[in-house]
Amino acid sequence: MTTSIAPLSQDELKTLVGQAALRYVVPGEIVGVGTGSTVNKFIDALASMKDQIKGAVSSSVASTERLQALGIPVFDANAVTSLSVYIDGADEIDGQGYMVKGGGAALTREKIVAALAQQFVCIADESKLVPALGNFPLPVEVIPMAAGQIARKFEAMGATATLRLKDGQPLVTDNGQHILDVRGLQISAPLAFESEVNQWPGVVTVGVFAHQKAQVCLLGCAEGVRTIT
Ligand code: 5RP
Repeated sequence: MTTSIAPLSQDELKTLVGQAALRYVVPGEIVGVGTGSTVNKFIDALASMKDQIKGAVSSSVASTERLQALGIPVFDANAVTSLSVYIDGADEIDGQGYMVKGGGAALTREKIVAALAQQFVCIADESKLVPALGNFPLPVEVIPMAAGQIARKFEAMGATATLRLKDGQPLVTDNGQHILDVRGLQISAPLAFESEVNQWPGVVTVGVFAHQKAQVCLLGCAEGVRTIT
């Protein structure tokens, strides 16, 4: 008789990497916390060591609410000058640690908290590892009155940009702005691309994380957690 072990589901892989990220949390310190379904697994795991940390700086209202519900104090980003580590998910990550983020519309605050941290630890299931960025629609947070002209700039690059909707209305971010999702880009030079788009008038943040790339990626795969540095 042969027995076969069912492969782990995507949700189980997220749980695995969420738990694995605990070893990067420094006791006695404040940890930077991202946003998304993978980070939710990390937050749940973090509750097991909440008495060993001072608290967290959070990248979204949703993560703040989850942290506080578990009794983890949340500090304003202005109250800290540096974090040892920021832990967050990604929509795409390449072998160099460059990422596309913002599927959960939290990209601007994610970049702000990541910029406070000495180390970015990305947690993701293996579906997020890509040879090159650009397949996932690129989120760009924009000031609403600039959305049209920014969309036309992407169209001039051969891409298409659509306003992200929620319940039939433009989605409003935690910062009161809108999101464009851009399809059809090939992001072969992430550092230059991020710098270029970020200086277009009306762009709050582009969802390419190249200047704030991951130093470590904990990737959930069939064999367990693979660490990429
Ligand atoms: C939110 C993000 C998330 O990190 C990204 O969308 C991945 O989310 P998930 O873990 O749910 O796949 O950038 O703005």
